[in-house]
Amino acid sequence: MPKRKIIIAIDGYSSCGKSTLARQLAQQLHYRFIDSGAMYRAITLYFIREGVDLQQPEQVQQALANIHLSFELDEKNGACEIHLNGENVSRAIREMLVAEKVSEVAAIREVRVFAVAQQQAIGKGGGIVMDGRDIGTVVFPKAELKIFMTADPAVRVLRRFEELYPSNPAITLDEVRANIELRDYIDTNREESPLRRAEDARLLDNSNLSREEQLQKVLGWVSQLENASDKSA
Ligand code: CDP
Repeated sequence: MPKRKIIIAIDGYSSCGKSTLARQLAQQLHYRFIDSGAMYRAITLYFIREGVDLQQPEQVQQALANIHLSFELDEKNGACEIHLNGENVSRAIREMLVAEKVSEVAAIREVRVFAVAQQQAIGKGGGIVMDGRDIGTVVFPKAELKIFMTADPAVRVLRRFEELYPSNPAITLDEVRANIELRDYIDTNREESPLRRAEDARLLDNSNLSREEQLQKVLGWVSQLENASDKSA
């Protein structure tokens, strides 16, 4: 019997390794990986470049109408890269300038409606791993596997610092900590789709887990679900 291709939804706080886990899973399972945060970051980059006033709903709507996002496979390194109106912005969206504004942009209702519709269209056939803040609660509330990731705040700050430092040696730990704390605060307290654990999400605290350990743990969950009879079929 062929295995089911399920939807895996991974949510959690900033910098707790959601994208790393999602990428590992997609590689192992031959699923598609979609980093929903990259979409909010690309929208933010466009708004910054165009000087969009976030307080003006018409300006926001107008700008969204001019945004086309796509994920393209980079043949050289196998990575899935985000394109904004045809331009590969995978690196540009990691800049601090974008990180400083993204949670404010992602709290706007029109922005979420725009991004969520695309996420649902991409994932509807299954065989997908998507990570973000509202994937198990809003985007795919019926996902077969929901994971809520957490990690010790100090561990998260250090991980993100090590990720950013090579391309930005001027960055400080305090700067990274302040950005993570601010984004977590906005993401959990906003009115639209706040970050919260879905009731049926499995908790994964990876403060003391290696990448390999966390992968094996989740692959165990996936294989149970892939082999379960498809009651919805
Ligand atoms: O820095 P990190 O990789 O943890 O964040 P990200 O996944 O790149 O997401 C950047 C920001 O986008 C988050 O801080 C949220 O404000 C927003 N976001 C969201 O609101 N909903 C999602 N599904 C994904 C991201």
